[in-house]
Amino acid sequence: NLKSMADLVAHSKHRGFIFQSSEIYGGLGSCWDMGPLGVELKNNIKQSWWKAMTYRDDVDGVDAAILMHPTVWKASGHVDNFTDPLVDCKVCKSRFRADNIDLSAPCSNCGAKDSFTEPRNFNLMFSTQMGPVEDTSAKVYLRPETAQGIFVNFPNVQTTMRRKLPFGIAQIGKAFRNEITPGNFIFRTREFEQMEMQYFIKPGTQAEAMEMWKELRWNWHLENGLRKERLQWKKHEQLAHYADAAFDIEYQFAHGWGEMEGIHSRTDFDLKQHQEYSKKNLNYVDQLDGNKKYLPYVLETSVGCDRCMLAVMSDAYRTEFPGDAEKERVVMRFKPSLAPIKAAIMPLMKKPDLEGPATALLRELQKDFKCEYDTAGSIGKRYRRQDEIGTPACITVDFDTLTDHSVTVRDRDTMVQERVALDKVKSYIKEKFSL
Ligand code: GAP
Repeated sequence: NLKSMADLVAHSKHRGFIFQSSEIYGGLGSCWDMGPLGVELKNNIKQSWWKAMTYRDDVDGVDAAILMHPTVWKASGHVDNFTDPLVDCKVCKSRFRADNIDLSAPCSNCGAKDSFTEPRNFNLMFSTQMGPVEDTSAKVYLRPETAQGIFVNFPNVQTTMRRKLPFGIAQIGKAFRNEITPGNFIFRTREFEQMEMQYFIKPGTQAEAMEMWKELRWNWHLENGLRKERLQWKKHEQLAHYADAAFDIEYQFAHGWGEMEGIHSRTDFDLKQHQEYSKKNLNYVDQLDGNKKYLPYVLETSVGCDRCMLAVMSDAYRTEFPGDAEKERVVMRFKPSLAPIKAAIMPLMKKPDLEGPATALLRELQKDFKCEYDTAGSIGKRYRRQDEIGTPACITVDFDTLTDHSVTVRDRDTMVQERVALDKVKSYIKEKFSL
């Protein structure tokens, strides 16, 4: 099992999952780049979420712009309230979140006593200018959550898709927050991705919607292979002013338990605010209830894609047979559908006789899966490398292949090898790994 975040950071870099942003310039604080394997894994997680959330009768997807009308953030409350209390140490100039530290204690960085400034509110939104003018009228924000792109599109989606309550709108996209204390690898960063869904419901039905989505969302994490004992619910005792119930799904990361997903009953707060600020009628006409007009309530599910990826990687990481030099291996036990590479094709030797059928097989499998072709080093070493990136199937083409038209397929987890006919390899892998 994963012992420390440092092990995962090192492994991620070593094997091409995640790199520090702008590394050759010394890096940019708390920004990370997805490497070739990271982008595959992340795309697979997004695809799993998108399927679970939108391949249903009652949810549509959207992809709204990151830049939105500045009044959106006035209406949503972000301009006035999306702040953290910040203090500086007057001696060493270190910055801290005031609610995270004991202000009467010495500075944890330089040890100076009574050195903190008064707490002041620091808005977490990044702002920029729209167009070539640099004045305040052109100020726009990088969205700090994707949810507002859904709220403002509620009437568009409802009418074009002829939706009746309850129905949801789902979205995956980037969000930006100028966090004071980012850290723990990709757990808290300043640029990240969210996968959010707002479920529009009739007021009064929020308790049942909450129960339904709590169960669906919990099961989704289990289906992605996360261990149950590393997941827990956290009920919010102190609710935000717009919420009437809120639960988080927490995961036991290497640095401790942390929020991964929030499931929040947000009442009609957001639509009401947007109706007031936009002066547009956002009411829903309930044809099933005497054409009553009202603003729907909203049940929100919001999960960080990067946090989810961190959980999936942390959960998958295993060191097996430690201390046994012959057998020791690091293996990423991803659920096969999430694994970045599904199959590695390995001709036993770099010989045309073997490479011919090996590349033919590669071409065939590539039509359906992301594959790797590896000819370098001993078979044992090649297996280890694939274990470290979590490839479910290693396929060896050997001299017997030339006569029996079969290959050896090795299973990542059991390390058991089976002989499979060349023309059956694709269906064998699809069936065995539910791909
Ligand atoms: N629309 C609701 C919303 O944005 P949130 O609890 O602020 O709620 C939802 O964020 C999820 O987004 C979190 O549970 C977390 O997974 C992810 N998230 C939030 N801030 C993040 C950050 N700085 N870095 C990475 N993920 C973050």
